[in-house]
Amino acid sequence: MDEIRNYVKERYAKAIRNASSCRGAPGCCSGAGSADIFSMTKGNYESEVLEKTPEQMADQSFGCGNPIAEANIRPGETVLDLGSGAGLDLFLASEAVGSRGKVIGLDMTDEMLSTAAENLKDLENVALVKGYIEEMPLEDNSVDVVISNCVINLSPDKEKVLKEAFRVLRPGGRFCVSDTVFLRPVTERAVKNLAAWSGCISGALLEKEYGEKMQEAGFEQVDIRRGKIYAVPDALASMAFPELTAEERSEINGALAGAVITGKKPVSGR
Ligand SMILES: C[S@@+](CC[C@H](N)C(=O)[O-])C[C@H]1O[C@@H](n2cnc3c(N)ncnc32)[C@H](O)[C@@H]1O
Repeated sequence: MDEIRNYVKERYAKAIRNASSCRGAPGCCSGAGSADIFSMTKGNYESEVLEKTPEQMADQSFGCGNPIAEANIRPGETVLDLGSGAGLDLFLASEAVGSRGKVIGLDMTDEMLSTAAENLKDLENVALVKGYIEEMPLEDNSVDVVISNCVINLSPDKEKVLKEAFRVLRPGGRFCVSDTVFLRPVTERAVKNLAAWSGCISGALLEKEYGEKMQEAGFEQVDIRRGKIYAVPDALASMAFPELTAEERSEINGALAGAVITGKKPVSGR
């Protein structure tokens, strides 16, 4: 497990260094360092929403959706963001919970945490915590809403992450996460090529499996709503994946989607 986490850590430390150093240069920073050909982050937030955030934060975002738009966060709530990165969703959640609420950003990568600390230094209701989403350094039943943006697919132990999210949520608490999912099985070779291309794909689950794992963790009212389906036209795929056969290229076209995964911890707490 540590080998994968260290690889992911290095990758995102590098990605945030690049994103921060090429601020304002169009096309320089598109998502997980995947260059212009395949940005997963573009268009996830309305421009009026981004206008409220510090200028650099949109370029430092590596998400594949917008969990804040779906989470119905209320004033006074405690929100936990798993893999909070440079903090765009923390910024927006901070506004939604207001001064009576609290927002916690959990991330394992020092460079992400220090960038977020700088971006959010004026926000008193945000706390940044260093740690792993598989072993959350948080109390049981202490959080109203768990959000996350394109992180759980990167975890080598997704069952553990979902169980931990369930543990820290208070009874009746909500889980509302943006992530990538496979819509149909693809061969290991094709997945490896996709993973090398964009960091937010590596370990994406099949849509159906995600739902099953949520239920196994204890969540009820589980729902998976597809968003963008990532099309990889053949001309682009043959450039990006020269080692894949035509059949493998057509296999990956439209196999991956962004999705919003929601669920609730039962009021009984179990
Ligand atoms: C794709 S980026 C998303 C960042 C942020 N959510 C956003 O929307 O910009 C993945 C983030 O998750 C963090 N991360 C990945 N795996 C993690 C793990 N197992 N435990 C804690 N943090 C993790 C990385 O350090 C990185 O900041």
